[in-house]
Amino acid sequence: MRTIAIINMKGGVGKTVTTIQLASILANLYGKNVALVDCDGQCNLTRFYMPDYQDGDGLSVADVLETGGECCWSDNMQLVRPRIYLLPASASLYRIDLAAIQGKRTGICALKGFVEAMAEDGEVDMVLFDCPPGFTAASTAALMAARELIIPVEMDRFSLEGALEMVRQAESMLQVNPALRVDGVLITKWHKSPAVEQGERMLRQLGALPVFRQVIRQTDKVPESTFEKKPVLEYSWRSAASYDYRALAQEMFGPWEEADNHAV
Ligand SMILES: Nc1ncnc2c1ncn2[C@@H]1O[C@H](COP(=O)(O)OP(=O)(O)OP(=O)(O)O)[C@@H](O)[C@H]1O
Ligand SMILES: [Mg+2]
Repeated sequence: MRTIAIINMKGGVGKTVTTIQLASILANLYGKNVALVDCDGQCNLTRFYMPDYQDGDGLSVADVLETGGECCWSDNMQLVRPRIYLLPASASLYRIDLAAIQGKRTGICALKGFVEAMAEDGEVDMVLFDCPPGFTAASTAALMAARELIIPVEMDRFSLEGALEMVRQAESMLQVNPALRVDGVLITKWHKSPAVEQGERMLRQLGALPVFRQVIRQTDKVPESTFEKKPVLEYSWRSAASYDYRALAQEMFGPWEEADNHAV
């Protein structure tokens, strides 16, 4: 079972969109069972799959953090699409952050325990953690539970700094979670412009971080698809972002067997 955190300190760089597309591709093209963990109190991922979700409707990330994960069973996750399970976020995550500031216990290893139990069950192939911008109790717990990181960045100066800061933070996390490795920085919202192309060149030449060969192009189909509550794969199979996310998946997971394809 692979455990991947999608994380960047910077907001709005495409973390949630990337999580949604990878989940859809893994479930529909690779035939994998995917568990999504929404670590963000903004609840964007949760609202995408469960627009009517209310705090208290079943097991949530906050419950796992508060109880230490011991009495949480992964089969209490919500089946939100065929082969896609969700552990939802709620505004309670902010309460947990406040408690952490006040020095109270926040269950930093709780998601790790939860995911280990999931691995023992053997039904989930892939866990994706959609992290908030910044270090919170939930994103720290995700970093403890994950083995791999994807760092989406938008090519402007601030995002580049965000990515470098992320690597510094990831390096310090490595001391606590030595199993963690950066799969790659993912350039999102790519479009033809001197600033974007220069940013990409700088990032690749820097060599401090692995950078995915595949970039994700900017297209209106992505925001449109989120309004429609559909992965872009389903909303517009031929759009640039749909093509790019499929190519990214092949770069990360290898080719899918055409015979195993499940229509989207
Ligand atoms: N390839 C793309 N082309 C066009 N728009 C995109 C693309 N990827 C993401 N977006 C848009 O950028 C915005 C931010 O995306 P998203 O919510 O995934 O970022 P995020 O990093 O999860 O943000 P936050 O840090 O607030 O959680 C959304 O409006 C989304 O539709
Ligand atoms: Mg997000």
